[in-house]
Amino acid sequence: MMDWTDRHCRFFHHQLTREALLYTEMVVADAVIHGARERLLGFDDSEHPVALQLGGADPGKLAEAARIGEAFGYDEINLNVGCPSDRVQSGTFGACLMKTPVLVADCVAAMKAAVKIPVTVKCRIGVDEQDPEPALDALADGVFAAGADALWVHARKAWLEGLSPKENRDVPPLDYGRVYRLKARKQNKFIGINGGIQSLAEALRHLDHVDGAMLGRAAYHTPGILTGIDAAFYGGTAEPFDFAALIDAMADYAARHIEQGGRLGHVTRHMVGLFHGLPGARRYRQILSTEATKPGAGPQVLKAAFAEVDFGRTAEAA
Ligand SMILES: Cc1cc2nc3c(=O)[nH]c(=O)nc-3n(C[C@H](O)[C@H](O)[C@H](O)COP(=O)(O)O)c2cc1C
Repeated sequence: MMDWTDRHCRFFHHQLTREALLYTEMVVADAVIHGARERLLGFDDSEHPVALQLGGADPGKLAEAARIGEAFGYDEINLNVGCPSDRVQSGTFGACLMKTPVLVADCVAAMKAAVKIPVTVKCRIGVDEQDPEPALDALADGVFAAGADALWVHARKAWLEGLSPKENRDVPPLDYGRVYRLKARKQNKFIGINGGIQSLAEALRHLDHVDGAMLGRAAYHTPGILTGIDAAFYGGTAEPFDFAALIDAMADYAARHIEQGGRLGHVTRHMVGLFHGLPGARRYRQILSTEATKPGAGPQVLKAAFAEVDFGRTAEAA
């Protein structure tokens, strides 16, 4: 998610779940090819498994960008066919590609030919006046014929004119049934679902119908829910999560980032919702939003914020 799932966010989320596949922000193929690669693509080894999401509509450029991503060590390359922002529309990529499934298939074929790692696509069920039945089928048929390893579907339309990017994540109604029907047609292909999933229990219910569930905003705003993923989905042990060890790891990470010229707030801004619902979470949040953003703030600010959280009492008792 752009501006959210940067490398610091992914490092943090990976402390909460070792198994879940994390995605980068969308990076435009041209930027990968011509931009400051280390800044755009660099990540910590501990982030695996991690997928690089690309934006673009030129098969040759996407192939080149995918090759660069593979060489950087990414585990998967994902093509964005779902982002409705104005900037993206003007570059003819993102959600407007729902209207040109043959071009999307060409892009996937070129990327597949360029790399050995999986190539996947994330799309909508349709855009504008499209009927989601044929529109999603055409997109899916094309990308799977081109060799795509998975299709993730944000289960709502995008309206390219008239709605802001933010509204396009909320206003068009969710239609999970449309994604389930796609899966029923594509028994032997990986179909994942996204959009509006608030909890791991909801994610689990989707797995009765599709192969994967992707969380966006819920994962970002309430990252504590990620601590249940490894046990619920990957056969991990359901031991109580060690939040003190997490904060130590994040403080060490932040110290390294600060040593390299970064700021504490770059790291802690992603951690604000961690203790959502616990006594002391408000004070923790306040410290991260004020003290931790000040120039010169050090990792001890994170530790001081954590000291405010009271694991001994329930939220109701507070
Ligand atoms: C701030 C923000 C940035 C986003 N950036 C991207 C992006 O770069 N690529 C993408 O595929 N989706 C992006 N999305 C959409 C989410 O991945 C997801 O499809 C959408 O929010 C619906 O899922 P959710 O209800 O679980 O959040 C973004 C969403 C938000 C809130």
